[in-house]
Amino acid sequence: MKKHYFTLLLLVLFELHMMSAILAKPLGAPGILSRRDLLSGSYYYKTCPAAEEIIFRKMKAWFRKDYTLAASIIRLHFHDCAVRGCDASILLNYQNSERRAYASRTLRGFQVIDDIKAKLERYCPKTVSCADILTAAARDATSLLGGPFWEAPLGRRDGKTSVAKEADLVPQGRENATALIKFFQERGLNILDLVVLSGAHTIGRSSCHSFQHRLANYKGTGGPDPTLDRLYWRNLTQSCKRSSNFVNLDATTPKTFDTEYYKNLGKKKGLLSTDQELYSDPRTAPFVSTFANQLPDLFYNQFAVSMVKLANVKVPTPPNESEIRLNCNYVNPAPRKKVNPPRRG
Ligand code: HEM
Repeated sequence: MKKHYFTLLLLVLFELHMMSAILAKPLGAPGILSRRDLLSGSYYYKTCPAAEEIIFRKMKAWFRKDYTLAASIIRLHFHDCAVRGCDASILLNYQNSERRAYASRTLRGFQVIDDIKAKLERYCPKTVSCADILTAAARDATSLLGGPFWEAPLGRRDGKTSVAKEADLVPQGRENATALIKFFQERGLNILDLVVLSGAHTIGRSSCHSFQHRLANYKGTGGPDPTLDRLYWRNLTQSCKRSSNFVNLDATTPKTFDTEYYKNLGKKKGLLSTDQELYSDPRTAPFVSTFANQLPDLFYNQFAVSMVKLANVKVPTPPNESEIRLNCNYVNPAPRKKVNPPRRG
């Protein structure tokens, strides 16, 4: 028990230290929101009081129909926040938008957000941003899967820019720990955030394409990745006759939001090489072993904290570069210019 409190204290101290470093970031650099544009837990209290209730009910209905969509929504939210901050730029659907990028090809759940948006537009038009819908939906998806619940600060606006090239910078499963840490730090997220948010891989699935390089002739060695358990490797080879096949990210409890993901890493059963890296790299390993060995509450609480941080990642945009989108797939049409009637006489 004593050991548990000591670990908790270490995590809290680390978190405080990193938060102070993040808040000291110069304004204008990508990072956490500035005080000026702080979000609020009661943002729609007056303008659309039932917004969060509507989002939750819709999420629950979709979850009942197809529970796999919950994991996909959590991932969609990460891919949104990782590029230009959480501005729903991932939802824009046109040639060369983030959504059409190579790294986005297995993203799912767009129809869920469209469905929620359609209902909200009927209930309180032009009020709730697509970025906020995605943020609250990811929170609800987590709790529907048995994970933690947290108050999601809302009040984001939707961006008007979406560039495929930028989406391709999101880690795709083959990066080393240094690249992962750098990617997170550039967004104001620290090593603890990296390890705890990777814990989202306790649910969901991956196409074989994302880890196939581990199965044969790994780094030109002629054999599989040595950090892959032999039996697990055999099963994966069986399941991956085609690179478009899918395999669960958590080898033991793929439908439950728990700490098995971290325990599996210690048994050489991380599916992505980026997951397994977290176990072997000395900067991330202490956090992995803490989450694997302590009560799940520690992971749940920290996951909630880091998800709020992720949802606060923002790249400052001028006011005319953001809006409340009417349809999450498209930027709003430009308002028609008023044409003055010709003068008579
Ligand atoms: C640390 C860097 C990360 C890397 C390298 C990574 C990589 C991946 C890859 C390769 C997949 C499978 C894609 C495919 O179908 O081939 C995946 C799935 C997934 N990722 Fe991550 N990810 C990272 C961080 C995150 C974060 C921060 C979250 C959320 C907080 C997240 C949530 C998910 C979920 C839930 C799935 C399953 C999606 C589904 O079943 O549809 N990932 N990730």
